[in-house]
Amino acid sequence: MKTALFQASKLSTLDYQKIGQRLFNGATCVVPTETVYGLAANGLDPTAIAKIYAAKGRPSDNPLILHIADSTMLKQIVTDISEDAKTLMDAFWPGPLTLIFKKATRVPYAVTGGLDSVAVRMPSHPVMHALIHAANTPLAAPSANLSGRPSSTTFAHVKNDLFGRVDMIIDGGESMIGLESTVVDVSRENVEILRPGQIDQAMLEATLKKPVPYTQSTVDIPRSPGLKYGHYQPQGSVELILGDTPEIFEYLMRQTAPENTRVICPIEWAEHFSFLKVSPLGSIDDSASIMRDLYARLREMDDDDVEMIYLLARPDLNAALLDRMKKAANHHVTHLVESEDH
Ligand code: TXA
Ligand code: MG
Repeated sequence: MKTALFQASKLSTLDYQKIGQRLFNGATCVVPTETVYGLAANGLDPTAIAKIYAAKGRPSDNPLILHIADSTMLKQIVTDISEDAKTLMDAFWPGPLTLIFKKATRVPYAVTGGLDSVAVRMPSHPVMHALIHAANTPLAAPSANLSGRPSSTTFAHVKNDLFGRVDMIIDGGESMIGLESTVVDVSRENVEILRPGQIDQAMLEATLKKPVPYTQSTVDIPRSPGLKYGHYQPQGSVELILGDTPEIFEYLMRQTAPENTRVICPIEWAEHFSFLKVSPLGSIDDSASIMRDLYARLREMDDDDVEMIYLLARPDLNAALLDRMKKAANHHVTHLVESEDH
């Protein structure tokens, strides 16, 4: 497939109209958003949606998020908007929050993986926003990576995974947040977090003035079907080690690591582990910097054919990062300190 490349900063109003028209007519286009890059297509057109699944190699029971530009679009695709949903939308839209609603009839089951609910997000990124307007339809968009790989946070990641597999790619530079949106279910009596993200539990609870649990249900039918598939995993083995530098140092000294081993840790910790090769990941007290760079670091491991990756973090790391790191490690986690809550 021929893939047309565009630079976001050079797009004219006419370009937006043309790309929007192609999207409406069933084409696929990778678009920058504030979280990660998205692989977009007309969210109400089952043929266009099938192209997304094919390009990613994604299992078709893993539902997609519909991206909207205004509340008129929301009313066309959901049936029931609770008071809690309204409060969350007022507080966090446009932005990195995805809400699960009961779906309206016109939303095809192709986009919801057969579910009667639909995930909706109003992104704040100006390019994504303008394209939804130009396409004049909600855009279905999963993260723009091959299924199972880390999400794309740079144009290079997107090109690597999807060049030749999609109709268009828009280069918008590096993603600002670097981690996927928080997913919150507002379709049931009790509001719940299904996927943690930059908008965290404390922010949601402060806004709704009540508990908003994070339910990690991987038994029976997972509430967020995406959770049952392997994610974010580099080719090499990953071990996530939680602790502070002295314990981790001792622990690593006792391991017999293969030749091509890498430590990924905050820049402040790098000197402690210089007996191994270190790739710095953000700054210890700045979780935003860790979010921004995590996927780029994981992808670099494959570029360098790294066999063993020690991913180091403090145990009080925020929930969203801990969630993605655990998945990258395929749940191979070593706790070197007692957790403080007994
Ligand atoms: O930040 C983001 O959310 C990015 C950008 C592109 O917007 N998109 C993204 O999409 O991460 P994706 O498809 O990679 O992840 C969507 C998640 C999956 O875990 C999926 O299972 C869940 O949302 N999901 C979608 N529809 C759902 C539904 N109806 N009920 C429960 N979970 C749903
Ligand atoms: Mg994804």
